Amino acid sequence: MSNTSSKTAVLIPGDGIGPEVTAAVKRVLEKAGSDINWVEHKAGIAALDAGKEVLPEETTDAILEHGVALKGPCTTPVGKGFSSVNVQLRKKLSLYAAVRPVRSLPGVKTRFDNVDLVIIRENTEGLYSGVENEVTPGVVMSMKVATEKGCTRIADYAFDYCQKRERKKVTAFHKANIMKLTDGLFLKCAQKVHEEKYQDVPYDSLIIDAACMRLVQDPSKFDMLLMENLYGDVVSDLCAGLVGGLGVVPGANIGTDHAVFEAVHGSAPDIAGKGVANPLALLMSAVMMLNHLADTCGCTNSSETAEKIKHGYNTALADGCKTGDLGGDLSTEQFADAVIERLNG
Ligand code: NAI
Repeated sequence: MSNTSSKTAVLIPGDGIGPEVTAAVKRVLEKAGSDINWVEHKAGIAALDAGKEVLPEETTDAILEHGVALKGPCTTPVGKGFSSVNVQLRKKLSLYAAVRPVRSLPGVKTRFDNVDLVIIRENTEGLYSGVENEVTPGVVMSMKVATEKGCTRIADYAFDYCQKRERKKVTAFHKANIMKLTDGLFLKCAQKVHEEKYQDVPYDSLIIDAACMRLVQDPSKFDMLLMENLYGDVVSDLCAGLVGGLGVVPGANIGTDHAVFEAVHGSAPDIAGKGVANPLALLMSAVMMLNHLADTCGCTNSSETAEKIKHGYNTALADGCKTGDLGGDLSTEQFADAVIERLNG
């Protein structure tokens, strides 16, 4: 990783609720004693409004230089307009692994207790390759791309993660009964990587439709979920629903040399500007970033800060401090204050 020892990280506020939640998260990190030096750059509608490209080169250059970024959500127009900034960014920086831990939280009552899942989503291929064309008026096509290299590296990432973190099992979700070539390759690569390198890691695979049914019936049957891009996008939101919604699920986009941390949720235009968005998903993403910095540059301050923040938000939730999406009445900033008050025990 390039230059993370300086602990400079890029901050991309993004669109919609992005600026609100990033401001709250930045404040919590500062109060927790983080020594991260932020450099702020734009992406998305915010960049267009400033007369720049939707994904300005200066933004990607800054991530290339500093190695890590914390990113707010970016809006993508539906059915027309520019292609997704998020997809562009992941492809440009080869952030091939999306890592999304989905866990039950204290004080957040949901149908199931003790949900503990990690989704590993392939982030650069599949139907998100963006290769679409109109064959003839009224007939359009979208190309699903799977490469042996892409499928192998994401499977390797998932098994390695499972082994290093002593998780229980990897389950690949697929539809190789219908998409015999693309999902067939995804499955074949996972099996091969498993046989060659990770036979000690429990592994199985399931057809995705049945897997989704089983997930909502009993998530405790699952541990780590490995899947291609589109399935990962959809299943992430499904799993978010198991633990309280999109306000509480963080994420990391990991590449060989760079990493961008962002919540699973989008720019939430329905609540943007009202100051009511839950900043927790982005705060948890920031904790993932601090732990990543501790692992990759040995910054002890980062892991201490991460622990303090985790303690702060877990205690705040247990004490009933919640934003509207979790049934509470705190604003974005009031929830950040509640976490800050509980940082030191
Ligand atoms: P969304 O995640 O923005 O919102 C879905 C629902 O969840 C909304 O009712 C929203 O109010 C709620 N919600 C989301 N985050 C919340 C939070 N932190 N606190 C409280 N409530 C929250 O998904 P939607 O509406 O499908 O997408 C809106 C825009 O965001 C689109 O332009 C989409 O392309 C973009 N998007 C961007 C992502 C990214 O930048 N990584 C990821 C997903 C969507």
